[in-house]
Amino acid sequence: MIAPSILSADFARLADELAAVPTSDWIHVDVMDNHFVPNLTLGLPVVKSLLKVTDIPIDCHLMIEDPDRWAIGYAEAGAYNVTVHVEAADDPIALAKNLKAAGSKAGLSIKPGTPLEPYVDVLKHYDTLLVMSVEPGFGGQSFMADVLDKVRQARHLVDTGHLTLLVEIDGGINADTIEQAAQAGVDCFVAGSAVYDAADPGKAVEALRAQAAG
Ligand code: DX5
Ligand code: ZN
Repeated sequence: MIAPSILSADFARLADELAAVPTSDWIHVDVMDNHFVPNLTLGLPVVKSLLKVTDIPIDCHLMIEDPDRWAIGYAEAGAYNVTVHVEAADDPIALAKNLKAAGSKAGLSIKPGTPLEPYVDVLKHYDTLLVMSVEPGFGGQSFMADVLDKVRQARHLVDTGHLTLLVEIDGGINADTIEQAAQAGVDCFVAGSAVYDAADPGKAVEALRAQAAG
């Protein structure tokens, strides 16, 4: 699965930018609050507007403090998947239950330096695991191949029936890196600059998909 990140799109033309990637599996929307990460993007009002102009499932990545308070609104608005950071959540198990009760999938993200092992029991409550392959906050950074060990661990836990979730990766995914991520066991690839800096974003999505499939 390919999920273009609109962080690298033209924020003045978001409806057009979504229309440019019609075969995307999900649209990845990065919500940043200037506190959890040193950048500020967009929030619930913009997500509500995006939901009106596309039928592609919206994948919200909340890089915000206090997701226990704020994440539910995105689920209630109709986001397909709402991902929170384990480093920011006070009660990630309750949060997953609340997100699912509100009608979305629940996602848990881990920063590059955050290990997977302590959260395996928490992840039993989640539908997606978003492994960050850059420090969250900005598009266009270099892929951190070290995190592929965590992808392999998660893949093993899923394949052996210990977890039931999709493994998603975010950061530095492009034509040079997607194959190693695919081989490590990623299900869903977020790509921002590799899609929206391309001359034809729609073709870039298809090229990445073909590469991921090997
Ligand atoms: C970064 C965001 C990513 C970002 C990825 O914190 O979570 O979704 O858009 O951008 P690229 O694909 O350019 O690394
Ligand atoms: Zn993201």
